[in-house]
Amino acid sequence: MSELFPIPQTLAARAHVDQPTYRRRYAESLRTTEDFWEEEAAFIDWIRPFREVSDTSFDPADLRIRWFADGTLNASVNCIDRHLPAKADRPAILWEGDRPGESRTVTWAELADQVNRLANVLRGLGVAKGDVVTIYMPVIPEAIVAMMACVRIGAVHSVVFSGFSAEALADRIRDAGARVVITADEGLRGGRVVPLKRNADRAVAAAGGVDHVIVAARTGARVPLTPGRDIRWGAALALADPWCPPAEVGADDPLFVLYTSGSTGRPKGLVHATGGYLVQVGTSWRTIFDWHEGDVFWCTADIGWVTAHSYKIYGPLLNGATSVLFEGIPTFPDHARWWSVIEKHRVAIFYTAPTAIRSLMREGEAPVLRHDLSSLRVLGSVGEPINPDAWRWLHRVVGGGRCPIVDTYWQTETGSVLLVPIPGAVPNKPGAAGKPYFGICPVVMDSAGRPVAGAGRGSLCFAGSWPAQARTILNDHDRFIRTYFAPFPDHYFTGDGVERDRDGYYRITGRIDDVLNVSGHRLGTVELESTLASHPAVAEAAVVGIPHEIKGQAIFAFVTLKSGHPESGTLRAALVALMRERIGPIATPEAILWAPALPKNRAGKILRRVLARIAAGNYDDLGDTTTLADPEAVDEIVRRHRASL
Ligand code: WTA
Repeated sequence: MSELFPIPQTLAARAHVDQPTYRRRYAESLRTTEDFWEEEAAFIDWIRPFREVSDTSFDPADLRIRWFADGTLNASVNCIDRHLPAKADRPAILWEGDRPGESRTVTWAELADQVNRLANVLRGLGVAKGDVVTIYMPVIPEAIVAMMACVRIGAVHSVVFSGFSAEALADRIRDAGARVVITADEGLRGGRVVPLKRNADRAVAAAGGVDHVIVAARTGARVPLTPGRDIRWGAALALADPWCPPAEVGADDPLFVLYTSGSTGRPKGLVHATGGYLVQVGTSWRTIFDWHEGDVFWCTADIGWVTAHSYKIYGPLLNGATSVLFEGIPTFPDHARWWSVIEKHRVAIFYTAPTAIRSLMREGEAPVLRHDLSSLRVLGSVGEPINPDAWRWLHRVVGGGRCPIVDTYWQTETGSVLLVPIPGAVPNKPGAAGKPYFGICPVVMDSAGRPVAGAGRGSLCFAGSWPAQARTILNDHDRFIRTYFAPFPDHYFTGDGVERDRDGYYRITGRIDDVLNVSGHRLGTVELESTLASHPAVAEAAVVGIPHEIKGQAIFAFVTLKSGHPESGTLRAALVALMRERIGPIATPEAILWAPALPKNRAGKILRRVLARIAAGNYDDLGDTTTLADPEAVDEIVRRHRASL
């Protein structure tokens, strides 16, 4: 496990950051953090330069996260306008549709034109600085146009994953108070149609408060439009003025909201601020992927996740880079789809997730080897720890043994990568998320809340702020403080367990809160449980994660039924359907076990730890069961689980 892969010579020779530079600059960046970020901030075109770099405190009684606060800027100018003089007719986006053969190239000039027009449409609808616009779209160029149009006028985008259900969308529209929703007629994924407009209509009806829905054409299907409310993208943009003056936005004004799951029922809308986010995302993107002018970049994440926000959209746009935007899935129409896209566009940097690699590994090497992947130089991984087997396969088969893998550790909350083996600077160790990024100070805390010195295990925290850090949870600042800053005062707490080895590499050991990581997507157990419990036949439910070969973790549900409701296959199917309907297909349980009673402690708290061990078949090692109120409940569940195998 501790094998070290040396940095390829050809890469090191021209890397932005080499080994000695990393050591020197990292040490400096911790000593004089403000100076470091002040220099990085020169990457951004400011309207009014900032005077104060930062004002930060992680004291829960006096939480302050301010970066470049008195500076002003516009995000879309930094992402688009400033590249126009040199690159107007060069490609910004290489779009590949769900089906091979369907593709589009969007130049910087075309992107600018669409963004300006849509920004004017939004302004015309009364969207003002600070208003939230919800975006529920497939992975098409229009989604990026929508995000950029919002920030051009200082509005705040809230992108909701298009795989989420109407109900999940309604919750997020309501929480954000969005008055405008941007969607498409339909989405396409793996040849299947996703009824986006229909979902949006239901969500808008349920949420209330939405005045307008803008509908882009993806499939061209005839979808019902509500007169006075719904607007066709194409018609509206055709009539709009092609120049929209950019709004002057304060560095600490919000750029976007992005929802993620936490350990309580309600999803959290993390709020990111404009200046700090753009400074850190723009500069770190170039550094951690070692991007050079001319390199084609491809990140496979869906636009609904933070990975896409920071490193598929903002990072490449801020740097004027050409990137691939792929609508489909890796297995459609066959298992070689990704590899054919890499070959077609001569992709140099490919950023993906372990779960996808594990599913493609099963198909063997042949689909990869049929394609010329010699353009690849750097590979990236994100979302969950990459198991060494998947790491080696990605390295050897996809990367031909010559591409370093940047295993990037970060979160929706952190906005930007915090731990990473920078490709020219830190030799790879399979399964380890490398070393801290500049200015980042990781702390391993023991269970007593004391920092571990040197090698050891504990809770992963960070001391000191960084510019791309989220500023709050929308409408719930107390929860923000409670969740991230109260557990270990003066530190940011990630919710992850970690192990630091003697060489200073960090290995993430998994979530230590009630959050599951299914195929790289975060799902809160409480959210899943309350959905199950909302079924009229269900008295109570408990959800745990079980190890899964492809997904990393899968959902295992223990369900107690109300008396008079018999256990049946039909009911099981109804519960699965309920989860898919309420949350989305990613919430599909792998297994449901009927439990006459759930194990609880005397205070009535469900002992999920015990259930997780049962679900994994570790009956002989249930941990501390002395606090159980009803030990027989466990015996019965073990018996049933055994019988179900
Ligand atoms: C996990 C995704 C190990 C971790 C950017 C974290 C990882 C959560 C890695 C955040 C990695 C993400 N190695 N674990 N390289 N990257 N995680 O908010 O548990 O969707 O807390 O952000 O994913 O997920 P999120």
